Amino acid sequence: MPITASSPVATGSIDELRTRVAAARARGERIGFVPTMGFLHEGHLRLIDVARAGADYVVLSIFVNPLQFGPAEDFSRYPRDEAGDLEKATGRGANLVFVPSLEAMYPTAPRIAVVPVALHERWEGSMRPGHFQGVLTVVTKLLNLVTPDVAILGQKDIQQAALVRALVRDLDIPVEIVVAPTVREPDGLAMSSRNAYLSPEARASARVISAALFAVAGAWKGGEREAARLERIGREVLARDAAVVVDYLALADPERLEPVDRAETGTIAMIAARIAPGGTRLIDNVVLGAE
Ligand code: PAJ
Repeated sequence: MPITASSPVATGSIDELRTRVAAARARGERIGFVPTMGFLHEGHLRLIDVARAGADYVVLSIFVNPLQFGPAEDFSRYPRDEAGDLEKATGRGANLVFVPSLEAMYPTAPRIAVVPVALHERWEGSMRPGHFQGVLTVVTKLLNLVTPDVAILGQKDIQQAALVRALVRDLDIPVEIVVAPTVREPDGLAMSSRNAYLSPEARASARVISAALFAVAGAWKGGEREAARLERIGREVLARDAAVVVDYLALADPERLEPVDRAETGTIAMIAARIAPGGTRLIDNVVLGAE
């Protein structure tokens, strides 16, 4: 079968990935890339839309990266649905789905890692030691494999997006990074593959996370600028559900994600919380002043 931009394909082969990307580039096409860990939802699919808007040939990767999971985390039970994912991704217009095996990505025990030296101390970095080292290492590998012109990340994982921006700047990786808005369920809950872990009761409890962020954004819109007061408003909403255990609720600047005293346009309100029973950990954020 001839390789054309319109024939959707899945491959686990690095050689085939490189051949197909090279063919697209030889046709003069701009390469867009959406890295994921699969179990695709509308948030992931929206990243494909953004990629298609800025590129001609879109590669989506699905790889549950063991390096970014802590020993007590959910690597082995992370939800997987390869067949469903391929259908969704290609149905949405991805030209190539790259689904490498563990052996293809890590044929030897790792000897090299990409280690952040800033931007990782707080929030997810402090709650999940080693997480961002695993993320940056696999993202570097994926960028070297796909060699995209543009890569699309989600705002939901804002610290990850900030670190990947820093990665490509600091290491001069020739790729444009685009961060796309968070896609939400009708009741406000940010879409996440991990929402699949939630029991109906936990799913109902999880609503307070986005509700708290919207309350903070509403108070900010109403003129409140003091971070401590905005935080209190958010915590009051979270406290409405006893099943929700807050890891952090903070207001931070969008570049360095350092806490601020006064919230300005662009300040990020962010939350990480665990939902009992089960303890599923969810993160979410909103940009103040963004409509
Ligand atoms: P994963 O959690 O599968 O997310 C893949 C991409 O989808 C990330 O850029 C994430 O920010 C984005 N995303 C997730 N939920 C979203 C939502 N509701 N709205 C918009 N975008 C959303 O993040 C990872 O995988 C991994 O760490 C990865 C970057 C692939 C490296 O392994």
